[in-house]
Amino acid sequence: MKVNGKPTRTIWIHSECPEIVQIIDQRWLPHQYIVEDIGTVESMAIAIRDMHVRGAGLIGAAAGYGMYLAALEAKAATDFDSHLDSCYALLESTRPTAVNLAWALDRQLQAISKGREADEKIRIAMNTACAIADEDADFCRRIGQHGLSIIREISTAKNGDTVNILTHCNAGWLAFVDYGSATAPIYAAHDAGIMVHVYVDETRPRNQGAALTAWELGQHGVPHTLIVDNAGGHLMQHGMIDLVITGTDRTTVTGDVANKIGTYLKALAAKDNTIPFYVALPSSTFDWKMKNGLSEIPIEQRNPEEITHVEGLCDGKIKSVRISPTGSPAANYAFDVTPARLVTGLITERGICRADRESILQLFPEGRHK
Ligand code: MRU
Repeated sequence: MKVNGKPTRTIWIHSECPEIVQIIDQRWLPHQYIVEDIGTVESMAIAIRDMHVRGAGLIGAAAGYGMYLAALEAKAATDFDSHLDSCYALLESTRPTAVNLAWALDRQLQAISKGREADEKIRIAMNTACAIADEDADFCRRIGQHGLSIIREISTAKNGDTVNILTHCNAGWLAFVDYGSATAPIYAAHDAGIMVHVYVDETRPRNQGAALTAWELGQHGVPHTLIVDNAGGHLMQHGMIDLVITGTDRTTVTGDVANKIGTYLKALAAKDNTIPFYVALPSSTFDWKMKNGLSEIPIEQRNPEEITHVEGLCDGKIKSVRISPTGSPAANYAFDVTPARLVTGLITERGICRADRESILQLFPEGRHK
């Protein structure tokens, strides 16, 4: 996508210094656009854990580049493979819910093991990291094309009137390498001249909707309105939402969807108001082994300070202020699980399917053997 008119991805290898990976440090958006140099596995792990980069696809891509940095470091270590293993463990421990993390680490480990000596392993690790990133971008672009058909159909049914879409959190290009999952159909529709308008949930506690999704949509010229997290149900009851599209951090082979906390409530409200609730994801976000999302998907709990405090721009500086009484405990569940029965369909790079095992495996037969 473009930032200030310039094509940009969320992560890439430094053009003059291939030992450095560069990322957009998303902690400062929308106030400042800062590119961070990452030169060690340790700093990549911090970048993932502390959410300089975030979103399932980007977490996977960052893990892929992290393993490339690990291979560079391993050349100087006494034992190449055991250094790689410890870097794998470090990166894997950063965030528990998005399955793309382990998926990318496993893909890297398998690929690197085919190299014979250190330089060949490093070359493979670099190529694999770039392949993971390119594939992520390409899959999201395809999700956009498939999802476009849903928006087009609604637009036609409304005789070309604006299609109002609700989204939660940020499943935009900032959550991936490019395009995004939930936003890709929206960008495709907007680019095709279909009138769309997006209601953006602010998404407490970290406000990825307010800070990131609103910024992205604004950069691309997509009309949007920011709403508080609890407004969606009210808008649905008053016929103001035609479609909900969210992303996901892990979707079971049976169609249960883990996504940012609050997604489940949006799905319930959508069901009650007969509004289609779609989830957009690349295949790297499927968990082929899990059958029951509610009991099996690990739900990240983050620092309660994200709830007791809010961050914002004050006198040109980003500041954090307390909003609750000192001493009141807070619990910060970062994700929830929406059962498959509440999901109208899954928009993937291969097409749209129902959120059930049979339909998912029909599109992705290789999932049976994972
Ligand atoms: O905690 P985050 O910001 O990493 O959460 C990720 C999200 O934004 C998700 O909820 C999103 O919808 C899926 S990630 C593509």
